[in-house]
Amino acid sequence: MNYILVTGGAGYIGSHTCVELIEAGFNPIIVDNFSNSEKFVIDRIEEITGKKPILLEGDCGNNPWLTDATKKYKIDGCIHFAAFKAVGESTKEPLKYFENNIGSTLSILKWMKTSGCKNLVFSSSCTVYGQPDILPVTEQSPKKPAESPYGRTKQMCEDIIEDYYKSDKNIKALALRYFNPIGAHPSALIGELPLGVPNNLVPFITQTAAGIREKLTVFGNDYDTPDGTCIRDYIHVVDLALAHVSAIQFLINKDESLVDFINVGTGVGNSVLEVINTFEQVNGVQLNYEIGERRSGDIEKVYADASYINKILCWATRKSLEQALEDAWRWQKAINKRAYKI
Ligand code: UFG
Repeated sequence: MNYILVTGGAGYIGSHTCVELIEAGFNPIIVDNFSNSEKFVIDRIEEITGKKPILLEGDCGNNPWLTDATKKYKIDGCIHFAAFKAVGESTKEPLKYFENNIGSTLSILKWMKTSGCKNLVFSSSCTVYGQPDILPVTEQSPKKPAESPYGRTKQMCEDIIEDYYKSDKNIKALALRYFNPIGAHPSALIGELPLGVPNNLVPFITQTAAGIREKLTVFGNDYDTPDGTCIRDYIHVVDLALAHVSAIQFLINKDESLVDFINVGTGVGNSVLEVINTFEQVNGVQLNYEIGERRSGDIEKVYADASYINKILCWATRKSLEQALEDAWRWQKAINKRAYKI
């Protein structure tokens, strides 16, 4: 039995990863306190895969509880997603972010020591690069001062994992630096469930198309890009989930200890207007949008050099921007139909 501990496994990326872990023959053990996720997600994972994941409801930052709750399993790896992730909120409540995001990572590292679990995949972000000087961004690009406390927690957790590795050469750890995850499972049974008004582009687009928001504001069209709007590397969440499965398989099969940092992106940048136009085309809907002011703190353009992950994990994106935006819209329609309480 290959048990994999998945902290934050009921969340957006976590739930998609649990589905792909099960499909690959693993047994995810979800640790979630449902502070930013819904319990029905556990049933949905079962509906998609035919297998109910084990659920340990609680806070992975509570090490004594976690150690006790996982005692009866021999766990081969941990994928640590659990973290707060709202950039704006992190600037208003930095302590909440430091306490939760750093605290849970420390707790997981302590847990690894006591449980004997050697393999860690950490959920990091391309935010660690800030606005890179050279594009596409390789793993050697320098880390820039973080733009927000949220971004700082990702940088700090990477440093903590690296320092811990230097002290305990038994562990094997990969930090995956995600670019912009979008879309949903093609079944439309799981997807992103933003709390309140979405900050991110794609949920705002789908909510506008669904009539929940009146109009989308494009944050600036005077950037130094072909159409003047910002460029990002949008990756389908199912592809991102598969990258986690490859990462955990890689660590389990590896004999030597290591710590490494890997970009997870498509290698292609798309502008905000390209995303809007593609969404309209593939879904046959008209989006109400206007050009507005720049959003403070936005990075002009960032996209990954994906050659390292292609090589080391034999992973590449399989799904297109078109598929991601179709799946995102299908998920939004499913939410409307089933009238989830979000
Ligand atoms: N955008 C709009 N209108 C909106 C929302 C977004 O024009 O209503 C634009 C933004 O200005 C940006 C692009 O769409 O150009 C993407 O914005 P998102 O908020 O979706 O994504 P970001 O790249 O700004 O942020 C994401 C994650 C963060 C992470 C960061 C790392 O949300 O958690 O990537 O670069 F820190």
